[in-house]
Amino acid sequence: MNRTEIIRKRYNRVASVYDWMDIIIRDKWRKAIYEGLNGDVLEVGVGTGRNIPFYPPEAHVTGIDFSENMLAKAKIRLKEFNANAQLLLMDAQEMDFPDNHFDAVVTTCVFCSVPDPIKGLSEIRRVVKPNGEIRMLEHMRSNQPMMGKMMDVINPLVVGIVGANINRDTMNNLQQAGFIVKDEYQIMGSMYRMLKLSPNK
Ligand SMILES: C[S@@+](CC[C@H](N)C(=O)[O-])C[C@H]1O[C@@H](n2cnc3c(N)ncnc32)[C@H](O)[C@@H]1O
Repeated sequence: MNRTEIIRKRYNRVASVYDWMDIIIRDKWRKAIYEGLNGDVLEVGVGTGRNIPFYPPEAHVTGIDFSENMLAKAKIRLKEFNANAQLLLMDAQEMDFPDNHFDAVVTTCVFCSVPDPIKGLSEIRRVVKPNGEIRMLEHMRSNQPMMGKMMDVINPLVVGIVGANINRDTMNNLQQAGFIVKDEYQIMGSMYRMLKLSPNK
């Protein structure tokens, strides 16, 4: 089984309890990440649809995820909130969208688990318009040396159970994929970051 299949299976396995696992992510952060967005917006790794209540009515959101079970939960939430959105089963590493298609792209806590993060990030860069905006709320390896080391030690356990890496160097991955960081807000030390990025193309 390849890495993508392994991680997809892990998310299928945790889908029924996922909403209990991510209580650390505050609604006010989810709301902030969507604030002011309009037009065609892509949400990568939509999961169980925790951001759906915060979709602005001015935006048409396309949410993708590669886990059928996570997406099934999101579909229930979509009906509940009657949001202006569509949900598609799709791998972020190989998207079915044309180049320069979306006005904005959003991810929340996704690039800890995309098996090949540079590939997924490069796909985002391909599908967003040159003047489009990318917003991310991502957790990553702490800059604090002791905490960073601890995250390295615990990481294999977390990946094994949930499928998420807690020690990814996402800032470096973003740079490698060609993005420019326009705005950065750190939460809980440097463990969570809210980012505004330009595709730089
Ligand atoms: C930690 S969850 C976060 C879910 C949601 N964004 C949230 O904030 O609650 C990560 C999500 O990313 C999805 N994911 C990981 N790799 C993916 C990929 N290559 N393509 C599509 N979805 C992916 C997982 O299936 C899972 O639903």
